[in-house]
Amino acid sequence: MQWDPARYAAFSDERSRPFHDLVAQVGLEAPRRVVDLGCGPGTLTATLAARWPSASVVGIDSSAEMLASAPGGAGLSFELGSIEDWTPGPTDDVVVTNAALQWVPSHASVLPRWLDAMPSGSWFAMQVPGNFGSPSHALMRSVAADGPWASALDGVLRADPVLDPAGYLGIMLDGGFEARAWETTYAQLLPGEDPVLAWVRGTGLRPALQALDAADPSGELTAAYEARYAAALREAYPASTHGTVYPFRRVFAVGRKP
Ligand SMILES: C[S@@+](CC[C@H](N)C(=O)[O-])C[C@H]1O[C@@H](n2cnc3c(N)ncnc32)[C@H](O)[C@@H]1O
Repeated sequence: MQWDPARYAAFSDERSRPFHDLVAQVGLEAPRRVVDLGCGPGTLTATLAARWPSASVVGIDSSAEMLASAPGGAGLSFELGSIEDWTPGPTDDVVVTNAALQWVPSHASVLPRWLDAMPSGSWFAMQVPGNFGSPSHALMRSVAADGPWASALDGVLRADPVLDPAGYLGIMLDGGFEARAWETTYAQLLPGEDPVLAWVRGTGLRPALQALDAADPSGELTAAYEARYAAALREAYPASTHGTVYPFRRVFAVGRKP
């Protein structure tokens, strides 16, 4: 799938909150190597390099568009690569993956292999959106199935591979980690008109936008679908004088290998 870093950067402050809450739970002082899987534009990866200046910090992502705007810095590097093919090395003391594993349908079966390969004393920290059933995503699918765009969008909006916190906790405990898992719903206050549409345009709606563009490069089909979807979103998430509240559930798991 093609990503649009500029659209993703909209709401970067709101999108970064779960990342900071996640890495705050990692208790290692001086890791040798830190890996950020599905690092996106790398802005948050750079904060890991700032926290652990003596570490080699590597961001890995399969999107050349995302990596094109990655920042430079001492100890910081980026690699084009896929999460599915990645294997931890013997000095990978911290592995972080934030808002990326939901794009990897097989991730629950890949995790045990990673946990097994990680060195003793290492930390694994993951966060995935748990909002497949939220109105924003349910409406994305129901509108997709009902309109002149339905054939273009047939099968495009993926099934949900994300587990509940207990599912990830079980995988980490089975992998021999001391672990904890939890969920948080962020009440994100978004400014502007149709802000929930603007949010999902940068992430969950991307496969649909790509399919609509391929079916009708004139943009008319995209505009028609977005107009119907936006109207439904305005009802589900009414604007107030303060802005629009978008409740967003996130699932976290963090653990240390003894
Ligand atoms: C929502 S962004 C999250 C970016 C960053 N971690 C953050 O928190 O801002 C998801 C990222 O996962 C990457 N991604 C999706 N599937 C991937 C895969 N199979 N292998 C590597 N990266 C992948 C995308 O290219 C995208 O940059």
